[in-house]
Amino acid sequence: MNNLFTPLKIRGIELKNRIVLSPMQQYSSEDGFATDWHLVHLGSRAVGGAGLIISESASINPMARSTNNDIGMWKDEHIEKWKQINSFIHQQGSKTAMQLGHFGSKASRSHPNEGFNYLEQENGGWETVSSSSVAPFAGMSVPKELSIEEVNKIKNDFADAALRAVKAGFDIIELHFAHGYLVHQFLSKLINHREDTYGGSFENRIRLGLEIVEAIRQVTPKNMPLFVRISAVDYVDEENAWTIQDSIAFSKLLKLAGVDLITASAGGFSWVDKSKLSEGYQVSFAKEIKENADILTGSVGLITKPKTANEIVENSNADLVIIAREHLRNPYFATNASLELGLQTELPWQYKRAY
Ligand SMILES: Cc1cc2nc3c(=O)[nH]c(=O)nc-3n(C[C@H](O)[C@H](O)[C@H](O)COP(=O)(O)O)c2cc1C
Repeated sequence: MNNLFTPLKIRGIELKNRIVLSPMQQYSSEDGFATDWHLVHLGSRAVGGAGLIISESASINPMARSTNNDIGMWKDEHIEKWKQINSFIHQQGSKTAMQLGHFGSKASRSHPNEGFNYLEQENGGWETVSSSSVAPFAGMSVPKELSIEEVNKIKNDFADAALRAVKAGFDIIELHFAHGYLVHQFLSKLINHREDTYGGSFENRIRLGLEIVEAIRQVTPKNMPLFVRISAVDYVDEENAWTIQDSIAFSKLLKLAGVDLITASAGGFSWVDKSKLSEGYQVSFAKEIKENADILTGSVGLITKPKTANEIVENSNADLVIIAREHLRNPYFATNASLELGLQTELPWQYKRAY
């Protein structure tokens, strides 16, 4: 039986354990550049023992950013700092993934410290784009519908950014297709009202996601794993909403296109009542996709306790346990989990006198 500290091999890489730092935007970048903040933030969680460190969503072009302070991978100059960050994380025995994304109609917002509101063009914002001219939430600004030429440019931007991530020394690429952002805005009928080859039927709505995967597979090494984060459900009680059955069908096709692992997150077009959420509330999505699409999965969402994390792996509900906010409170989650569970892990030799 596997446990939280059983290594996992995916294509050419081996993760030393199943604990993952979930991608979390830091809004600490200028012009898309990673900084010493990213080195220390991501590096600390590697020192803390997580087997895989995933970067926050890196924008594939400047318009893809949610704020002017998001990181990006749209120019070669972005590569250098990531080489240093990846090298440090590798020295800790952890692997790295870059998450690539486009915020679509949720782009162009002020910094969270300044309200995270829609940023008008005269204040440094830009016109947002989406599958259709439909706001992601009632009351939010209405985006411009992308033309086919613009859709093609976005596919190329994803592939170019992926190639830069390879050059920067990342081990894995994760595509952000979740949380109501651009690709999710194509997947879900709640937003996608297009009448061309990217709208209407399930096959048309998943087309962009699959084409991005195909474009990336053409430029990345065969032994490099590719992950995709999806919203397993929309959390919207409407006939048009994306369902777990849609996620299973999509995951099967993603696997055929060369995707190795699905991170099963959820939501993005509705506010979720956080008081109703309980520990591991999204585990069932990872389990259903793993069992029915026959693909590796990661579970994310309110996993805070080593016991919960270990049970997810022991019960084969998911292959990876992806931890976000608990990692902000506790960068040493993995080390502490190994001590609490009595499972062996390698500690940084510099810290061994503490244990
Ligand atoms: C500050 C912050 C920034 C986030 N940024 C991203 C992101 O860049 N990409 C992403 O896929 N999810 C992002 N998320 C979502 C988390 O990765 C995770 O899915 C969510 O917080 C639920 O996990 P948790 O309960 O362990 O925090 C972010 C969450 C937080 C709290």
